[in-house]
Amino acid sequence: MGKKILTEHISDPNLHKLEVYQQHGGYASLEKALKKMTPDEIVEEVKKSGLRGRGGAGFPTGMKWGFIDKKSDNPHYLVCNADEGEPGTFKDRYLMQCNPHALIEGMILASYALNANKAYIYIRGELYYVLRILEKAIAEAYAKGFLGENILGSGFSLDLYVHPGAGAYICGEETALIESLEGKRGNPRLKPPFPAVSGLYNCPTVVNNVETLATIPWIVNHGSEEYAKIGIGRSTGTKLISASGHINHPGIYEIELGVTVDEFLNSDQYCGGVREGHSLKAVIAGGSSVPVLPADLILKTKAGEDRLMTYESLSDGGFESGTMLGSGGFIVMDETTCIVRNTMNFARFYRHESCGQCSPCREGTSWMEKILARFEYGGAQAEDIELLVDISKNIEGNTICPLGDAAAWPVASAIRHFRDEFEEHIRRNGCYFE
Ligand SMILES: Cc1cc2nc3c(=O)[nH]c(=O)nc-3n(C[C@H](O)[C@H](O)[C@H](O)COP(=O)(O)O)c2cc1C
Repeated sequence: MGKKILTEHISDPNLHKLEVYQQHGGYASLEKALKKMTPDEIVEEVKKSGLRGRGGAGFPTGMKWGFIDKKSDNPHYLVCNADEGEPGTFKDRYLMQCNPHALIEGMILASYALNANKAYIYIRGELYYVLRILEKAIAEAYAKGFLGENILGSGFSLDLYVHPGAGAYICGEETALIESLEGKRGNPRLKPPFPAVSGLYNCPTVVNNVETLATIPWIVNHGSEEYAKIGIGRSTGTKLISASGHINHPGIYEIELGVTVDEFLNSDQYCGGVREGHSLKAVIAGGSSVPVLPADLILKTKAGEDRLMTYESLSDGGFESGTMLGSGGFIVMDETTCIVRNTMNFARFYRHESCGQCSPCREGTSWMEKILARFEYGGAQAEDIELLVDISKNIEGNTICPLGDAAAWPVASAIRHFRDEFEEHIRRNGCYFE
């Protein structure tokens, strides 16, 4: 069994209670951090740990914290991104539901490191039951003196609020999230300035994913060196993977970064292999936004090496033959899956979720959905394949936020690796899958 950081005690049904969390060593980091470490020392520890943001982009967390504008006289804010709208990704809700205090403890440490006295958890509105769990856990933390004025007599104070969104995928993009938190429509902002300089209420702000923040207590308790020993190369630590699709054991797994894709997919400890009597066709390794890979390329790189569950290995080969770890939404498809239908469903999602600010995304996502529907339901012409490629190229890189890229990559990669299936849909004038 690999190392567990976030899920070590998750089978304890009472872990969400502060007392039980403490019995498992919870909140021990506060004494150490608030009394013996300076904020800069914590930032340094997080930098040295190599922790990378778990929200999708994999940006180094310590470096992001280092960008916070220290010269500004304005208050600093920490915001936890608990929107989790990426199709195929469902790990944050599980973490918050079963282990809410790990997030709260991580947010206290991060707020101290960033000199923030107010912090927010922006949670997907549909997760009302999780919001209730978080609010209860926050009340417990206030009662214990872990939140509020002068925490543990350290002189550091922090108020933590939970704010529900209204179920828009775009509000997971950090600047749209900030707009929404300010009470406005969740439209992404132009960058720069980045949130570390001008974020919530135009003040220096750090936005981090739930899993990123929940990892901080372990790093403070055990030290950056111990954390950096887990994983491989620049992919340090553990990662929660949401595994779904045609596998024997769908679920949420905490892996040490660096296990092979083959082991993750086929061993009984994780996915348990593709369902009986079927064969692997394709995998989307990091949530709906990342390129889909066919069976041969997900298991081995183009150079014939075992593909690993790391940021680097999954992206080996660039977009020609690689993909991305993203938010860790591992969607497995067997030979019964129609790639065209799957791509059309994703295109419908992105068309619906586009905020509409940028024409390439607003118009392009709609055109892609319509053209893909011609493949699926009949009427597609030979030139429609190149038309899709052309539209995806015109969206990519031409929008304020990466939702455009997220919409373009699934389409472009489906055509790159499964062009014959698109051609067959044209020949048969529609879908030929059951
Ligand atoms: C359309 C879109 C949706 C996103 N949704 C989420 C989300 O639900 N949760 C999340 O943590 N990050 C999401 N992100 C990434 C955030 O913008 C941001 O990079 C992340 O919250 C930073 O946290 P991290 O550094 O801890 O990964 C999304 C990005 C885009 C473009």
